[in-house]
Amino acid sequence: MHTAITTPRGIWWVRAHKGEKVWVTIAFAWCMVLFAMMPLWHFKGGQNPAGVRHKVTPAAFMARVQEFADQYKVGEENGVPLVAPPPGSDIYMIGLQWRWYPELRLTKGATYTLHLSAFDVNHGFNLYPLNINFMVVPGYDYGLRIVPNQIGDYRVVCNEFCGIGHHVMLGRIVVVDGDNRAPPAAASPAAAAPNTGGAP
Ligand code: CUA
Repeated sequence: MHTAITTPRGIWWVRAHKGEKVWVTIAFAWCMVLFAMMPLWHFKGGQNPAGVRHKVTPAAFMARVQEFADQYKVGEENGVPLVAPPPGSDIYMIGLQWRWYPELRLTKGATYTLHLSAFDVNHGFNLYPLNINFMVVPGYDYGLRIVPNQIGDYRVVCNEFCGIGHHVMLGRIVVVDGDNRAPPAAASPAAAAPNTGGAP
């Protein structure tokens, strides 16, 4: 008869085997390593955004974006200005339902501080096809120091679900060699070949 006041048969009260103690010790030590990594990674980790971060109201950021776009506009595409800022400058892009604004044309090898923010809800900045990602949140101005190192015609895809138009939320960043304010050279027939890269 097995009751609470008689000792049940079994081996559960036998002292832990040496191997079990070793494994518990290793697991505990690893927990401590991970625990220490959290604060360590916060300060030392390469995943932290470079550059500055400020609080800003969405309206104030939008006004700054518009001022920037008006100042350096060199063209327009579907009502969105194409902006060619001078190398070394602060440049701006805002995510709003449902577009990235404005389009940028940058010089390869130049340093810029790219200010990203969102106007309404969270958006995900994803530079396609380079797979460079950054989440933008309303109320924060993220100043990322960037040096475009490859020429190309890139798309900015939104990778954070932001509503019914999320899947059509696109932007554009063009990187050119040399003067980004010069009009692009007329495309040769070879360069005008259809894009087979699957760009959206
Ligand atoms: Cu913006 Cu999804």
